[in-house]
Amino acid sequence: MTTPVPLLSKSQFPDDFVWGVATSAFQIEGAPLQDGKGLSIWDSFCRQPGVIADNSNGDVACEHYARWASDLDMIANLGVDAYRFSIAWPRVRPTGDGAWNTKGLDFYEGLVDGLLERGIKPYLTLNHWDLPDALQAKGGWAHRDTVHRFVEYAEGIQARMGDRLSSIATHNEPWVMAVLGHETGVFAPGIKNRATAAQVSHHLLLSHGLAVQALRAQGSKATLGIVLNLSPMHPATSGDADTTQAKLEDGRLLRWYMDPLFKARYPQDVLDHLGVDAPKVQADDLQNIAVPIDFLGVNYYSRSVVSADQSWKTESSGLEITDMGWEVYPEGLTELLVRMHRDYAVPPLYVTENGGAFKDSFENGRVHDQGRTHYIQRHIAAVAEAMRQGVRMQGYMVWSLMDNFEWASGYEKRFGIVHVDYDTQVRTLKDSALWYRGFLGQTE
Ligand code: FCB
Repeated sequence: MTTPVPLLSKSQFPDDFVWGVATSAFQIEGAPLQDGKGLSIWDSFCRQPGVIADNSNGDVACEHYARWASDLDMIANLGVDAYRFSIAWPRVRPTGDGAWNTKGLDFYEGLVDGLLERGIKPYLTLNHWDLPDALQAKGGWAHRDTVHRFVEYAEGIQARMGDRLSSIATHNEPWVMAVLGHETGVFAPGIKNRATAAQVSHHLLLSHGLAVQALRAQGSKATLGIVLNLSPMHPATSGDADTTQAKLEDGRLLRWYMDPLFKARYPQDVLDHLGVDAPKVQADDLQNIAVPIDFLGVNYYSRSVVSADQSWKTESSGLEITDMGWEVYPEGLTELLVRMHRDYAVPPLYVTENGGAFKDSFENGRVHDQGRTHYIQRHIAAVAEAMRQGVRMQGYMVWSLMDNFEWASGYEKRFGIVHVDYDTQVRTLKDSALWYRGFLGQTE
Protein backbone atom coordinates (compact mmCIF):
# COMPACT_ATOMS: atom_id res chain seq x y z
CA MET A 1 0.00 0.00 0.00
CA THR A 2 1.41 3.37 -0.88
CA THR A 3 0.30 6.49 0.91
CA PRO A 4 -1.14 9.10 -1.46
CA VAL A 5 1.18 12.04 -2.00
CA PRO A 6 -0.44 15.40 -1.39
CA LEU A 7 -0.76 17.95 -4.16
CA LEU A 8 1.59 20.73 -3.22
CA SER A 9 2.08 24.25 -4.39
CA LYS A 10 4.56 26.80 -3.14
CA SER A 11 1.74 29.34 -3.27
CA GLN A 12 0.22 27.65 -0.20
CA PHE A 13 3.08 29.21 1.78
CA PRO A 14 3.71 32.88 2.55
CA ASP A 15 5.96 34.79 0.16
CA ASP A 16 8.66 35.25 2.79
CA PHE A 17 8.78 31.54 3.70
CA VAL A 18 12.41 30.42 3.32
CA TRP A 19 13.14 27.30 1.27
CA GLY A 20 16.58 25.81 1.57
CA VAL A 21 19.02 22.94 1.49
CA ALA A 22 21.41 22.02 4.30
CA THR A 23 24.87 20.54 4.83
CA SER A 24 27.57 20.62 7.51
CA ALA A 25 31.29 21.27 7.25
CA PHE A 26 32.71 17.94 8.38
CA GLN A 27 30.31 15.96 6.21
CA ILE A 28 31.28 17.63 2.91
CA GLU A 29 34.51 19.62 3.05
CA GLY A 30 37.42 17.16 3.23
CA ALA A 31 40.84 18.87 3.44
CA PRO A 32 41.27 18.22 7.18
CA LEU A 33 44.74 19.74 7.38
CA GLN A 34 44.80 22.12 4.42
CA ASP A 35 45.72 25.79 4.76
CA GLY A 36 46.44 25.56 8.46
CA LYS A 37 43.27 23.79 9.64
CA GLY A 38 43.46 22.02 13.00
CA LEU A 39 41.99 18.56 13.58
CA SER A 40 38.53 18.15 15.05
CA ILE A 41 37.19 15.48 17.38
CA TRP A 42 35.59 13.83 14.35
CA ASP A 43 38.95 13.61 12.53
CA SER A 44 40.35 11.76 15.55
CA PHE A 45 37.26 9.68 16.22
CA CYS A 46 37.23 8.29 12.66
CA ARG A 47 40.76 6.97 13.22
CA GLN A 48 39.62 4.64 15.98
CA PRO A 49 39.11 1.17 14.50
CA GLY A 50 35.53 -0.04 14.18
CA VAL A 51 33.64 3.14 14.99
CA ILE A 52 32.60 4.06 11.42
CA ALA A 53 30.54 1.45 9.57
CA ASP A 54 32.62 1.45 6.37
CA ASN A 55 35.89 2.42 8.11
CA SER A 56 35.82 5.71 6.26
CA ASN A 57 36.55 9.25 7.43
CA GLY A 58 36.10 12.87 6.38
CA ASP A 59 39.49 13.29 4.69
CA VAL A 60 38.03 13.63 1.19
CA ALA A 61 34.24 13.60 1.66
CA CYS A 62 32.71 15.70 -1.17
CA GLU A 63 35.88 17.78 -1.68
CA HIS A 64 33.72 20.80 -1.07
CA TYR A 65 36.70 22.79 0.24
CA ALA A 66 38.06 22.77 -3.33
CA ARG A 67 34.75 22.62 -5.22
CA TRP A 68 32.79 25.21 -3.26
CA ALA A 69 32.26 27.61 -6.17
CA SER A 70 30.70 25.03 -8.50
CA ASP A 71 28.71 23.67 -5.53
CA LEU A 72 27.27 27.16 -5.00
CA ASP A 73 26.34 27.29 -8.69
CA MET A 74 24.50 24.01 -8.19
CA ILE A 75 22.65 25.38 -5.16
CA ALA A 76 21.66 28.48 -7.12
CA ASN A 77 20.43 26.26 -9.92
CA LEU A 78 17.97 24.59 -7.51
CA GLY A 79 16.23 27.92 -6.97
CA VAL A 80 16.39 27.83 -3.16
CA ASP A 81 16.26 30.98 -1.03
CA ALA A 82 18.79 29.85 1.58
CA TYR A 83 21.73 27.54 2.16
CA ARG A 84 22.28 26.19 5.67
CA PHE A 85 25.95 25.28 6.24
CA SER A 86 28.38 25.18 9.13
CA ILE A 87 31.84 26.51 9.84
CA ALA A 88 34.48 24.06 11.01
CA TRP A 89 35.70 25.74 14.18
CA PRO A 90 39.23 24.22 13.89
CA ARG A 91 39.52 25.62 10.35
CA VAL A 92 39.21 29.19 11.64
CA ARG A 93 40.87 28.76 15.06
CA PRO A 94 42.87 25.52 14.87
CA THR A 95 43.37 24.87 18.58
CA GLY A 96 40.15 26.56 19.67
CA ASP A 97 41.96 28.95 22.01
CA GLY A 98 45.10 30.14 20.23
CA ALA A 99 45.78 32.07 17.02
CA TRP A 100 43.13 32.52 14.34
CA ASN A 101 43.74 31.06 10.88
CA THR A 102 43.31 33.76 8.23
CA LYS A 103 43.05 31.28 5.36
CA GLY A 104 40.22 29.48 7.11
CA LEU A 105 38.35 32.73 7.69
CA ASP A 106 38.98 33.67 4.04
CA PHE A 107 37.40 30.41 2.91
CA TYR A 108 34.14 31.01 4.76
CA GLU A 109 34.03 34.67 3.87
CA GLY A 110 34.38 33.65 0.21
CA LEU A 111 31.55 31.18 0.68
CA VAL A 112 29.28 33.78 2.25
CA ASP A 113 30.06 36.37 -0.44
CA GLY A 114 29.61 33.69 -3.12
CA LEU A 115 26.15 32.91 -1.77
CA LEU A 116 25.18 36.59 -1.72
CA GLU A 117 26.44 37.06 -5.30
CA ARG A 118 24.12 34.25 -6.32
CA GLY A 119 21.16 35.67 -4.41
CA ILE A 120 21.14 32.97 -1.71
CA LYS A 121 20.76 33.77 1.98
CA PRO A 122 23.58 32.40 4.19
CA TYR A 123 22.21 30.43 7.18
CA LEU A 124 25.20 29.63 9.36
CA THR A 125 25.53 27.02 12.08
CA LEU A 126 28.54 27.67 14.31
CA ASN A 127 28.81 24.22 15.86
CA HIS A 128 27.79 21.16 13.87
CA TRP A 129 29.80 18.82 16.14
CA ASP A 130 33.43 19.30 14.99
CA LEU A 131 35.04 20.69 18.16
CA PRO A 132 38.78 21.41 17.88
CA ASP A 133 40.61 18.29 19.03
CA ALA A 134 42.98 20.46 21.08
CA LEU A 135 40.02 21.62 23.19
CA GLN A 136 38.93 18.03 23.71
CA ALA A 137 42.40 17.35 25.12
CA LYS A 138 41.59 20.00 27.74
CA GLY A 139 38.27 18.40 28.64
CA GLY A 140 36.08 19.43 25.69
CA TRP A 141 32.44 20.29 26.32
CA ALA A 142 32.61 18.68 29.77
CA HIS A 143 34.94 21.51 30.81
CA ARG A 144 33.30 24.86 31.61
CA ASP A 145 36.11 26.86 29.95
CA THR A 146 34.96 25.53 26.54
CA VAL A 147 31.82 27.64 26.99
CA HIS A 148 33.95 30.78 26.90
CA ARG A 149 36.07 29.55 23.99
CA PHE A 150 32.83 29.05 22.04
CA VAL A 151 31.70 32.60 22.80
CA GLU A 152 35.05 33.90 21.50
CA TYR A 153 34.62 31.80 18.36
CA ALA A 154 31.14 33.25 17.78
CA GLU A 155 32.50 36.78 18.27
CA GLY A 156 35.35 36.17 15.83
CA ILE A 157 32.94 35.02 13.11
CA GLN A 158 30.59 37.95 13.76
CA ALA A 159 33.48 40.42 13.53
CA ARG A 160 34.69 39.02 10.22
CA MET A 161 31.48 38.22 8.30
CA GLY A 162 28.48 38.65 10.60
CA ASP A 163 27.21 41.68 8.69
CA ARG A 164 26.46 39.40 5.72
CA LEU A 165 24.77 36.48 7.48
CA SER A 166 20.99 36.12 7.44
CA SER A 167 20.92 33.73 10.36
CA ILE A 168 23.25 32.26 12.96
CA ALA A 169 22.45 29.06 14.84
CA THR A 170 24.75 28.43 17.77
CA HIS A 171 24.55 24.64 17.95
CA ASN A 172 23.18 21.81 15.88
CA GLU A 173 21.47 19.14 17.98
CA PRO A 174 22.95 19.43 21.48
CA TRP A 175 21.24 16.13 22.44
CA VAL A 176 23.31 14.29 19.85
CA MET A 177 26.60 15.84 21.04
CA ALA A 178 25.76 15.17 24.68
CA VAL A 179 24.15 11.74 24.56
CA LEU A 180 25.59 10.07 21.46
CA GLY A 181 28.97 11.72 22.01
CA HIS A 182 29.31 11.29 25.80
CA GLU A 183 26.79 8.72 27.08
CA THR A 184 26.45 5.97 24.46
CA GLY A 185 29.74 7.00 22.86
CA VAL A 186 28.76 6.06 19.30
CA PHE A 187 29.71 9.54 18.05
CA ALA A 188 32.80 11.69 18.73
CA PRO A 189 34.40 12.04 21.19
CA GLY A 190 33.26 8.50 22.07
CA ILE A 191 32.88 8.94 25.85
CA LYS A 192 30.50 6.68 27.81
CA ASN A 193 29.52 8.42 31.02
CA ARG A 194 26.03 9.66 31.87
CA ALA A 195 27.14 12.40 34.25
CA THR A 196 29.58 13.74 31.68
CA ALA A 197 26.82 13.78 29.06
CA ALA A 198 24.53 15.76 31.37
CA GLN A 199 27.27 18.28 32.12
CA VAL A 200 28.03 18.60 28.40
CA SER A 201 24.38 19.34 27.64
CA HIS A 202 24.40 22.10 30.24
CA HIS A 203 27.58 23.65 28.87
CA LEU A 204 26.23 23.55 25.33
CA LEU A 205 23.05 25.34 26.43
CA LEU A 206 25.00 27.88 28.48
CA SER A 207 27.39 28.59 25.61
CA HIS A 208 24.35 29.11 23.36
CA GLY A 209 22.84 31.70 25.70
CA LEU A 210 26.12 33.52 26.26
CA ALA A 211 26.98 33.52 22.55
CA VAL A 212 23.57 34.96 21.64
CA GLN A 213 24.12 37.76 24.16
CA ALA A 214 27.64 38.40 22.86
CA LEU A 215 26.47 38.50 19.23
CA ARG A 216 23.70 40.95 20.12
CA ALA A 217 26.22 43.12 22.00
CA GLN A 218 28.29 43.21 18.80
CA GLY A 219 25.26 44.48 16.90
CA SER A 220 24.55 41.31 14.93
CA LYS A 221 21.67 41.78 12.50
CA ALA A 222 21.35 38.07 11.75
CA THR A 223 18.45 36.19 13.29
CA LEU A 224 19.88 34.22 16.20
CA GLY A 225 18.78 30.81 17.41
CA ILE A 226 19.58 27.14 18.00
CA VAL A 227 18.73 23.87 16.24
CA LEU A 228 17.30 20.88 18.14
CA ASN A 229 16.63 17.32 17.01
CA LEU A 230 13.15 16.44 18.19
CA SER A 231 10.54 13.77 17.68
CA PRO A 232 7.31 12.77 19.35
CA MET A 233 7.76 9.87 21.78
CA HIS A 234 4.94 7.38 21.36
CA PRO A 235 4.52 4.58 23.90
CA ALA A 236 4.50 1.18 22.15
CA THR A 237 1.43 0.15 24.17
CA SER A 238 -0.99 1.98 26.43
CA GLY A 239 0.41 0.07 29.44
CA ASP A 240 1.81 1.99 32.38
CA ALA A 241 5.43 0.91 31.91
CA ASP A 242 5.61 2.06 28.28
CA THR A 243 3.75 5.30 29.00
CA THR A 244 6.05 6.18 31.88
CA GLN A 245 9.13 5.38 29.83
CA ALA A 246 7.88 7.47 26.89
CA LYS A 247 7.32 10.44 29.17
CA LEU A 248 10.87 10.15 30.51
CA GLU A 249 12.33 9.87 26.99
CA ASP A 250 10.33 12.96 25.98
CA GLY A 251 11.88 14.67 28.99
CA ARG A 252 15.40 13.68 28.00
CA LEU A 253 15.07 14.62 24.33
CA LEU A 254 12.68 17.55 24.20
CA ARG A 255 11.95 19.08 27.62
CA TRP A 256 15.62 18.88 28.73
CA TYR A 257 16.38 21.47 26.02
CA MET A 258 13.08 23.29 25.58
CA ASP A 259 12.46 23.95 29.30
CA PRO A 260 15.79 25.71 29.98
CA LEU A 261 15.62 27.62 26.68
CA PHE A 262 12.05 28.85 27.17
CA LYS A 263 11.27 28.44 30.87
CA ALA A 264 14.70 28.87 32.52
CA ARG A 265 14.53 25.53 34.34
CA TYR A 266 15.39 21.87 33.87
CA PRO A 267 12.48 19.40 34.02
CA GLN A 268 12.19 17.95 37.52
CA ASP A 269 11.40 14.39 36.41
CA VAL A 270 14.63 14.22 34.40
CA LEU A 271 16.65 15.78 37.25
CA ASP A 272 15.19 13.12 39.57
CA HIS A 273 16.03 10.42 37.06
CA LEU A 274 19.63 11.64 36.75
CA GLY A 275 20.10 11.91 40.51
CA VAL A 276 23.81 12.34 41.28
CA ASP A 277 24.50 12.52 37.53
CA ALA A 278 22.58 15.81 37.20
CA PRO A 279 24.74 18.67 35.91
CA LYS A 280 26.41 21.28 38.08
CA VAL A 281 24.54 24.51 37.42
CA GLN A 282 25.83 27.85 38.69
CA ALA A 283 23.80 30.89 39.71
CA ASP A 284 22.51 32.81 36.66
CA ASP A 285 23.21 29.95 34.24
CA LEU A 286 19.53 29.29 33.57
CA GLN A 287 18.76 32.98 33.09
CA ASN A 288 21.64 33.16 30.65
CA ILE A 289 20.37 30.13 28.74
CA ALA A 290 16.83 31.47 28.49
CA VAL A 291 17.79 34.65 26.64
CA PRO A 292 15.14 35.37 23.97
CA ILE A 293 16.00 34.04 20.51
CA ASP A 294 14.75 35.02 17.07
CA PHE A 295 14.12 31.52 15.73
CA LEU A 296 14.19 27.89 16.71
CA GLY A 297 15.32 25.24 14.25
CA VAL A 298 13.79 21.76 14.37
CA ASN A 299 15.46 18.77 12.74
CA TYR A 300 12.86 16.09 12.15
CA TYR A 301 13.30 12.65 10.63
CA SER A 302 10.85 10.31 12.37
CA ARG A 303 8.87 9.62 15.51
CA SER A 304 10.23 7.41 18.28
CA VAL A 305 8.31 4.50 19.69
CA VAL A 306 9.21 3.64 23.27
CA SER A 307 8.76 0.31 24.98
CA ALA A 308 9.97 -0.14 28.55
CA ASP A 309 11.37 -3.60 27.80
CA GLN A 310 12.74 -2.51 24.39
CA SER A 311 10.76 -5.24 22.66
CA TRP A 312 9.20 -2.97 20.03
CA LYS A 313 10.70 -3.25 16.54
CA THR A 314 10.38 -0.61 13.83
CA GLU A 315 9.62 -3.26 11.21
CA SER A 316 6.45 -4.25 13.06
CA SER A 317 4.73 -0.89 12.55
CA GLY A 318 3.83 -1.61 8.94
CA LEU A 319 5.07 1.84 7.94
CA GLU A 320 7.61 2.47 5.23
CA ILE A 321 11.17 2.49 6.61
CA THR A 322 14.15 4.43 5.25
CA ASP A 323 17.65 3.06 4.74
CA MET A 324 18.49 4.28 8.28
CA GLY A 325 15.76 2.01 9.63
CA TRP A 326 13.62 5.03 10.54
CA GLU A 327 9.85 5.05 9.95
CA VAL A 328 8.43 7.49 7.43
CA TYR A 329 6.01 9.33 9.72
CA PRO A 330 5.16 12.85 8.50
CA GLU A 331 2.19 13.16 10.91
CA GLY A 332 4.79 13.26 13.69
CA LEU A 333 6.16 16.52 12.33
CA THR A 334 2.78 18.23 12.51
CA GLU A 335 2.19 16.78 15.98
CA LEU A 336 5.58 18.01 17.18
CA LEU A 337 5.29 21.54 15.78
CA VAL A 338 1.78 22.00 17.14
CA ARG A 339 2.86 20.73 20.56
CA MET A 340 5.83 23.13 20.70
CA HIS A 341 3.59 26.02 19.75
CA ARG A 342 1.12 24.97 22.46
CA ASP A 343 3.53 24.25 25.32
CA TYR A 344 6.18 26.96 24.83
CA ALA A 345 6.34 30.63 23.88
CA VAL A 346 8.41 29.77 20.81
CA PRO A 347 9.75 32.25 18.26
CA PRO A 348 9.13 31.47 14.57
CA LEU A 349 10.13 27.90 13.77
CA TYR A 350 12.12 26.45 10.92
CA VAL A 351 12.43 22.87 9.87
CA THR A 352 16.21 23.11 9.56
CA GLU A 353 16.64 19.47 8.50
CA ASN A 354 14.32 16.91 7.00
CA GLY A 355 15.01 14.18 4.49
CA GLY A 356 15.69 10.50 4.05
CA ALA A 357 18.39 7.98 3.26
CA PHE A 358 17.28 5.57 0.56
CA LYS A 359 19.07 2.93 -1.47
CA ASP A 360 19.43 4.92 -4.67
CA SER A 361 20.36 3.36 -7.96
CA PHE A 362 22.23 5.38 -10.49
CA GLU A 363 21.04 4.33 -13.96
CA ASN A 364 21.87 6.01 -17.26
CA GLY A 365 22.77 9.23 -15.56
CA ARG A 366 19.53 9.40 -13.54
CA VAL A 367 18.56 8.55 -9.98
CA HIS A 368 14.86 7.77 -9.73
CA ASP A 369 14.54 8.32 -5.99
CA GLN A 370 10.77 8.23 -5.68
CA GLY A 371 10.97 7.23 -2.01
CA ARG A 372 12.90 10.37 -1.13
CA THR A 373 10.72 12.61 -3.30
CA HIS A 374 7.56 11.33 -1.60
CA TYR A 375 9.19 11.66 1.80
CA ILE A 376 9.97 15.33 1.19
CA GLN A 377 6.55 16.07 -0.33
CA ARG A 378 4.71 14.48 2.58
CA HIS A 379 6.78 16.37 5.15
CA ILE A 380 6.29 19.70 3.40
CA ALA A 381 2.56 18.97 3.52
CA ALA A 382 2.93 18.24 7.25
CA VAL A 383 4.48 21.70 7.70
CA ALA A 384 1.56 23.26 5.81
CA GLU A 385 -0.83 21.42 8.13
CA ALA A 386 0.97 22.73 11.23
CA MET A 387 0.68 26.26 9.83
CA ARG A 388 -3.02 25.69 9.21
CA GLN A 389 -3.27 24.82 12.91
CA GLY A 390 -1.68 28.13 13.86
CA VAL A 391 2.06 27.39 14.17
CA ARG A 392 4.35 30.25 13.06
CA MET A 393 6.71 28.64 10.54
CA GLN A 394 9.40 30.52 8.67
CA GLY A 395 11.18 27.95 6.54
CA TYR A 396 11.99 24.42 5.46
CA MET A 397 15.40 22.98 4.54
CA VAL A 398 16.09 19.61 2.97
CA TRP A 399 18.79 17.42 4.46
CA SER A 400 20.81 17.22 2.42
CA LEU A 401 21.99 19.14 -0.59
CA MET A 402 24.18 16.19 -1.59
CA ASP A 403 25.24 12.74 -0.45
CA ASN A 404 27.91 13.07 2.20
CA PHE A 405 29.69 11.52 5.19
CA GLU A 406 26.87 10.28 7.40
CA TRP A 407 28.86 10.14 10.67
CA ALA A 408 29.08 6.61 12.14
CA SER A 409 27.33 5.26 9.01
CA GLY A 410 30.11 6.55 6.76
CA TYR A 411 29.29 6.93 3.07
CA GLU A 412 26.87 3.99 2.94
CA LYS A 413 23.80 6.08 3.74
CA ARG A 414 22.87 8.63 1.10
CA PHE A 415 20.69 11.58 2.14
CA GLY A 416 21.40 13.89 -0.80
CA ILE A 417 18.95 15.21 -3.34
CA VAL A 418 22.12 15.40 -5.43
CA HIS A 419 24.06 12.18 -6.06
CA VAL A 420 27.81 12.22 -5.45
CA ASP A 421 30.04 9.72 -7.24
CA TYR A 422 32.84 9.41 -4.69
CA ASP A 423 35.32 8.10 -7.32
CA THR A 424 34.96 11.07 -9.63
CA GLN A 425 33.25 13.68 -7.40
CA VAL A 426 30.68 14.17 -10.17
CA ARG A 427 27.40 15.58 -8.84
CA THR A 428 24.10 14.56 -10.46
CA LEU A 429 20.70 15.95 -9.55
CA LYS A 430 18.43 13.10 -8.44
CA ASP A 431 14.74 13.14 -9.35
CA SER A 432 14.03 14.57 -5.86
CA ALA A 433 16.21 17.60 -6.68
CA LEU A 434 14.47 18.02 -10.03
CA TRP A 435 11.11 17.88 -8.25
CA TYR A 436 12.21 20.40 -5.59
CA ARG A 437 13.52 22.75 -8.25
CA GLY A 438 10.22 22.51 -10.12
CA PHE A 439 8.25 23.08 -6.92
CA LEU A 440 10.33 26.15 -6.08
CA GLY A 441 9.96 27.49 -9.61
CA GLN A 442 6.18 27.43 -9.42
CA THR A 443 4.83 30.92 -9.60
CA GLU A 444 1.10 30.60 -9.37
C1 FCB B 1 21.19 14.88 11.83
C2 FCB B 1 22.47 15.66 11.63
C3 FCB B 1 22.92 15.76 10.21
C4 FCB B 1 22.67 14.49 9.44
C5 FCB B 1 21.25 13.99 9.65
C6 FCB B 1 20.91 12.75 8.87
O1 FCB B 1 21.17 14.36 13.12
O2 FCB B 1 22.32 16.97 12.12
O3 FCB B 1 24.27 16.13 10.21
O4 FCB B 1 23.61 13.54 9.75
O5 FCB B 1 21.02 13.78 11.00
